Amino acid sequence: MPRIVCHCQEIPEDEIIRVMREREPQSLAQLIMFTGAGAGCGRCIPDLRALLKSRSHRSSGKDNPPQGNKRELSP
Ligand code: FES
Repeated sequence: MPRIVCHCQEIPEDEIIRVMREREPQSLAQLIMFTGAGAGCGRCIPDLRALLKSRSHRSSGKDNPPQGNKRELSP
């Protein structure tokens, strides 16, 4: 049984990982927008942030351009 990350929206971890793989959100806000997770009480936000961070670390060097070409969203 998959682990539920967002209990308000009943969104399992594997669904969030699938969305991250397919849509490659560049921020927590985009991940929330794409999945709907985190749009309720917000208790799952730290888990979403951790998943996003682990995914960005895992994909670095594979699909991303060389370091220095990519800029994060916040100024
Ligand atoms: S548990 Fe995700 S918004 Fe409440």
